[in-house]
Amino acid sequence: MKLTKIIFFMFMLLLGACGDNEETDSSADVMYHHNFRPYYHYTPQANWMNDPNGMVYYDGKYHLFYQYYPYGTTWGPMHWAHTVSTDLFHWEDQGIKLYPDELGYVFSGSAVADLNNTAGFKTGNETPLVAIFTHHQNITGRQVQSLAYSNDKGDTWTKYENNPVLDNPGIADFRDPKVIWHEASQKWIMVLAVFDHIRIYSSPNLKAWELESEFGKNVGYHGGVWECPDLFPLKDEQGTVKWVMLVSLGGNENSEPNGGSATQYFIGEFDGSSFVSENEEILWADYGIDNYAGVTWSNIPEIDGRRLFIGWMSNWAYANVVPESGWRSGMTVPREIKLKKRQDNSYVLHFSPVDELNTLVDPQKTIAPETPANQIHVDYHEIIAGGSYQVEMEIIPSETDQFTISLGNELEDLTIRYSKTSGEFTIDRSNSGHVTFNNLFMHEISCDYQATGETLPLTLLIDQNSVELFINQGEKVMTALFFPRYNYKFFRLDGYTQNKFIKSFTINALKKSLIR
Ligand code: FRU
Repeated sequence: MKLTKIIFFMFMLLLGACGDNEETDSSADVMYHHNFRPYYHYTPQANWMNDPNGMVYYDGKYHLFYQYYPYGTTWGPMHWAHTVSTDLFHWEDQGIKLYPDELGYVFSGSAVADLNNTAGFKTGNETPLVAIFTHHQNITGRQVQSLAYSNDKGDTWTKYENNPVLDNPGIADFRDPKVIWHEASQKWIMVLAVFDHIRIYSSPNLKAWELESEFGKNVGYHGGVWECPDLFPLKDEQGTVKWVMLVSLGGNENSEPNGGSATQYFIGEFDGSSFVSENEEILWADYGIDNYAGVTWSNIPEIDGRRLFIGWMSNWAYANVVPESGWRSGMTVPREIKLKKRQDNSYVLHFSPVDELNTLVDPQKTIAPETPANQIHVDYHEIIAGGSYQVEMEIIPSETDQFTISLGNELEDLTIRYSKTSGEFTIDRSNSGHVTFNNLFMHEISCDYQATGETLPLTLLIDQNSVELFINQGEKVMTALFFPRYNYKFFRLDGYTQNKFIKSFTINALKKSLIR
């Protein structure tokens, strides 16, 4: 063996031995992508990531910033790291753009394109991009809102010299500003999470903020502190415009809908000053367990443009201890939000993967068994072993009372069940691989659902360590992480019936030209 080869071999051995939280296994079957890094979900190259921040679309690029700790794989003093993409899947990392300073850590917030230069930050020909974020003073815990701006399309950022622009009124949880331009009243609107409610502020120039109203003390779910709000208008197919408020909730193990962190939403009216919710039930952006702090991109034409969402694909209950090594946490697949009117005239949101996902389909790698069928077993197939694929299927609910989707290997499996009798989908991770690091991995994740239509379309996205199930075109979504010890080799869909309840079925491998 050449010396370089020997050194390379020893280096790989050492790498294997150093992975934090990893167990070693000499079997050739051991997870090929050993540190669980997804292919088509955004992950940081190294170290810790949490909430998506500062999402703004400008000059053909989607900007994504995120809560980042560059010196370790657990949460620490927060920075904003930056990445950009033209298609929401191939991301080019831009490094850290905001560092902690004397006002504190740089917590979550948003970014806008100040098209009319209302803040007066403009120096050249570019529209200034302005970030509005929370400064969190570590020792005192004091949280205030601050600005930073960029005059070169987000490449370099300057913190505003008169920060903070919104001081703390004596409340411990006072954070995560999301700012939008309110066309009708020609002013900026900020929604801010304040312990158990949302405060709505307005400003002509992003610098002077006035309290308009409060929302949420007596509505919605209150099993934990409210965080990371968003507010935006959305038009349904009939042309009706409603306003949507997203609110993330830092719950405990017993919180709705499935324990720990989750994001609820409200649909109602906003008049430029106060928001009134019209939905009577509690609605969740995701009925799984690993989609938190998600918000939407700004500066995509409101109303007629798409409303695009991304969430942090983890849960505070275990984010710091999941067995990824060298980096921690990914984002959900970017999702388009649509407003839908139900039979009873109430409104809900549908969340579906953005269309750009289809550009990742590898036409050479498709499995399309004959349908209709009463079961599909794909065993020992390279697409399944590759671990990054999409499944599109249509179920005929009248032909079966239940069905099970299972993926796994000889020792482990992840099982998704639907039962008409109980009217729910469940995801069972208890035998999916590494599970002992947190109780919530032993709990079934469940989502109420009545399949009422003639067919039930389902989209399932698998990407190494995550499953995202889109039920009936995003009417309900379930996102969950799992950590197999060994490559999964089979994918099975069973209805335990002779009836051909599977109307159509396709698996597509998803590929990316730039794989990190
Ligand atoms: C939500 C959150 C935010 C806060 C940030 C700190 O996950 O707790 O409220 O700004 O994370 O990293």
